[in-house]
Amino acid sequence: MPFVERVFSGVQPTGNLHLGNYLGAIVNFVKLQETHNCIYCVVDMHAITQGLDVWGGPAELARNTREVTAAFIASGIDPNKQIVFNQSQVSGHAELAWIFNCVARMGWLNRMTQFKEKAGKDRENASVGLYDYPVLMAADILLYRATHVPVGEDQKQHLELSRDIAQKFNNDFGDSIRGHGANDGLFFPLPEPLITGPATRVMSLRDGTKKMSKSDASDNSRINLTDDADTIAQKVRKAKTDPEPLPIEEKGLEARPEADNLVGIFAALSGRSKAEVLRDFGGGQFSSFKNALVELCVTKLSPIAGEMKRLVADPGHIDAILNGGADRARAIADETMKLSKDIVGFIRPR
Ligand code: TYM
Repeated sequence: MPFVERVFSGVQPTGNLHLGNYLGAIVNFVKLQETHNCIYCVVDMHAITQGLDVWGGPAELARNTREVTAAFIASGIDPNKQIVFNQSQVSGHAELAWIFNCVARMGWLNRMTQFKEKAGKDRENASVGLYDYPVLMAADILLYRATHVPVGEDQKQHLELSRDIAQKFNNDFGDSIRGHGANDGLFFPLPEPLITGPATRVMSLRDGTKKMSKSDASDNSRINLTDDADTIAQKVRKAKTDPEPLPIEEKGLEARPEADNLVGIFAALSGRSKAEVLRDFGGGQFSSFKNALVELCVTKLSPIAGEMKRLVADPGHIDAILNGGADRARAIADETMKLSKDIVGFIRPR
């Protein structure tokens, strides 16, 4: 019998959410709620894996956690139908991560490119949590035995690791698994990444070869979900381009990373393909395309920014949503932890 389809994904509450987070992940979160039961998690435990200077300290963490929650809801996620909560409220994430720490192999983690990028040259000084980050991510997903995980392109490698961990757990504990909610001998599903749409990797507005990121020193490299209309207009107009007119066909975007990125953003925001966008703008200059892009960004993003502002002004309401979501998440998580502990051989309290 196949696993019941369930969607899980997470977003870190570090710094401002940007257009990459929105188009690469949140837009797909919103779509998937029409067809699936979804769990959307603000991963505050992942947020503290880097230095205090990156996550900003306790007050900033709580503020950012509420802001990401507000962004989910303002973008159209319905917290009554789907589960929205922050990771640290459900202790199963940490507990399952420990079991997975003993399943995952150093060699697997040593290959993770995100750790290498984030740790930089000073690896000795990176936290153990940053190194272990992908194991916690596998625990996030598998705690709910989720089958589908909508993410941007940059999380693909982490998803592959989650599959490897699920598979090794299923193999290692094969005998014990039978009789403990096994599904054709599998206790954990192998979660599938959903990396879809024309903007799975939104690039920096200043350099089309670099990912749009919260950590880029230049705020002009990204459009934040909270930017006002004037800021958006300025950033789009300043965005790097090349001297050629826009190509007529998608093939013409090859080797033109900045043009490709802006067309991809336009396509994703308007719900069309890049080819369709080029049918309207191909052959034209960037200046008129950028005017249309500004208008599109402002039309799509301003209502979200407005709603986020309204929501964060009432932290009590957001906390109630997170608490309610955590209660529902915990009910599922507790069942997985109970079975996982039995499978491993941990004696549980009566
Ligand atoms: P995070 O918080 O860095 O990013 C949240 C989501 O946004 C996507 N994303 C992008 N998509 C397209 N273009 C970009 N420039 C861009 N930048 C970010 C990310 O791919 C992600 O989907 N490790 C995760 C959080 C996480 C998680 C999980 C995700 C923790 N546990 C379990 C899925 C399942 C992260 O750091 O995302």
